[in-house]
Amino acid sequence: MVENKVEISASIMCINWLNVGADLEVLEKHGIDYLHWDIIDGTFASDFTMGSSIINKIKSKSKMRSDYHLMVVEPSRVFQTFDISKDDVLTIHQEASRNLHRDLVSIRRLGARVGVAISPGTPLETLEYIIEDVDQVLIMTVDPGFMGQKLIPQTLRKIEKLRQMISDLKLNVKIEVDGNVNIGNVREMVAAGADILVGGSSGLFRSDVSLESAIQFLREDISRGIEKRGA
Ligand code: DX5
Ligand code: ZN
Repeated sequence: MVENKVEISASIMCINWLNVGADLEVLEKHGIDYLHWDIIDGTFASDFTMGSSIINKIKSKSKMRSDYHLMVVEPSRVFQTFDISKDDVLTIHQEASRNLHRDLVSIRRLGARVGVAISPGTPLETLEYIIEDVDQVLIMTVDPGFMGQKLIPQTLRKIEKLRQMISDLKLNVKIEVDGNVNIGNVREMVAAGADILVGGSSGLFRSDVSLESAIQFLREDISRGIEKRGA
């Protein structure tokens, strides 16, 4: 069953880096659910973002849960470097791991919630034999690597199909959606079955409105999406 609650995960790579402390306070005050850490290694995707030294430091200043999105080849190499707490989720890419099932078991052993991500070109069928071992699936709605890209429309169909797959298997797996989560797309993403939305440069850390207003707009659109679920 789809829960009528949709959480927001704030994509820290898109934050105003000259104002991190104040923005983190705003996120916390307004009940944002997670800090989303995009860790990109320059190989899986061609950007370099943050590593554990920066992430662990910022995380220690916040009460929000962490949502690690590892866009890293052979991600098990870096699992131990993060200061993980019990309610954090650590997500690795299906395409990046040679021994996917083993890596998911290792994340569980670290005490974190377990996530698997798939890029836009990767079929859902690749999850068939691991889906019962994860707490959430991250559907990328843009290609991994850079902020500010446009939604790849057929990924909306993928969210819907995943929701059906989870319900057919009677599993309790959350769907996280990442990439171009903005006012134009949130309603469709939520109606299709998203449980967690990653707010990045297009929806949360916008240049045209304040962080407070962006949070409010996102929440209004989430409510419209939830209404649309039943329609
Ligand atoms: C893309 C990242 C996203 C991105 C989303 O590789 O995983 O977290 O920052 O933000 P947008 O698409 O709104 O810039
Ligand atoms: Zn991400």
